[in-house]
Amino acid sequence: MEEQSSSPMRALFIGFGNVGQKVAEVLFVEREKHPRLVNLNLSIIGIVTKSRGSLVNNAGVNVVRALKDIQDIGRFSSLGFELVNISGLDAIRQLDYDVLIELSTLSIQQRGEPALSHVREALKRGKHVVTANKAPAAFAYHELQSLAREKGVRFLHESTVLDGTPVFSLAREGLKGCTISSVSGVLNSTTNFVLSRMEQGESLESAVKTAQREGFAEADPRHDLEGWDAAAKITVLANALLGASMTPFDVDRQGITHVKVEDAQRAVKAGKHLKLICKAWSEGGTVRARVSLQEVEHGHPLAPIHESGSILMIESDLLAPFVITETDPTLCDTAYGVINDLLSVACK
Ligand SMILES: NC(=O)c1ccc[n+]([C@@H]2O[C@H](COP(=O)([O-])OP(=O)(O)OC[C@H]3O[C@@H](n4cnc5c(N)ncnc54)[C@H](OP(=O)(O)O)[C@@H]3O)[C@@H](O)[C@H]2O)c1
Repeated sequence: MEEQSSSPMRALFIGFGNVGQKVAEVLFVEREKHPRLVNLNLSIIGIVTKSRGSLVNNAGVNVVRALKDIQDIGRFSSLGFELVNISGLDAIRQLDYDVLIELSTLSIQQRGEPALSHVREALKRGKHVVTANKAPAAFAYHELQSLAREKGVRFLHESTVLDGTPVFSLAREGLKGCTISSVSGVLNSTTNFVLSRMEQGESLESAVKTAQREGFAEADPRHDLEGWDAAAKITVLANALLGASMTPFDVDRQGITHVKVEDAQRAVKAGKHLKLICKAWSEGGTVRARVSLQEVEHGHPLAPIHESGSILMIESDLLAPFVITETDPTLCDTAYGVINDLLSVACK
């Protein structure tokens, strides 16, 4: 494939947890392992966190040291001249950057705040936004996209569903002219992982702890177990691919907190699997969405996804239904979705 070189870009990170650190690691530590990233010309001029300190340097933050500090002492070191006291919103309003990389925690009960305000303020200033946080697209997708269009910038969110596996970029490039009538899938890694482990006799609590250790469970496990993360994902898909204007509160939602090991094992004995299925579909001119626990037969298109994998089926007017599968993702998958979006911004 032909390489396309990108213009230099200055990035501001809000959030430097699992995903932020992995993006930084791929771009600034492991870069030579990924020769096709050579043309992504990115400097990080600011990193803002909630409790680990914030770094600002117009000439480019020392990212390798920032990563080492977090690893060694759990926060940015107070010895550096880059360490400042600044809120996310102030950084977004005051600093000189081209792209906001919004990687703060998902908030549902606060209706996406403060991430939604972070994204809105950056777009208002004519800055591109790349985010893995589902909240902005789940609570204000059309407002943010039209603001981005008005300002001539991009609002991209590939990693919000199926981590970095292409869904939104695939739809933009590969489904031109198609009207999508429904999307359905297993979209929440933690619940799928927990249900798979319960089939083997492990308790819900123990499986959740493993998912947290591996970094794919949400910071607040209730978001996963009560179906909120799945509801946020199906909302983003409904808004972005089916033209809906809904929020996670409009989704008919079920979680898995009530499931017992015996329920999962009984389903397996009957040749089925318990799955938390997300679905959004057009019906009589409106879009509806649901997250529900279902027993799916072995041969069902969404059945063969185990542990932390995800799967999505897309139905449209011009193509036969097709399925996108993500098998055993790691944090690198999510980081790649962010990087893919950065390349879309950079290589216009
Ligand atoms: N982990 C995954 O595999 C994955 C996959 C797809 C999407 N996502 C989404 O990506 C986002 C980041 O995930 P993560 O796993 O990196 O989360 P995380 O490890 O919990 O990190 C979140 C980061 O956001 C910071 N933060 C929270 N509120 C903030 C605020 N008001 N202002 C500034 N910084 C704030 C936190 O600061 P402190 O460091 O001080 O706590 C932390 O650095 C989330 O929205 C998540 O839903 C994650």
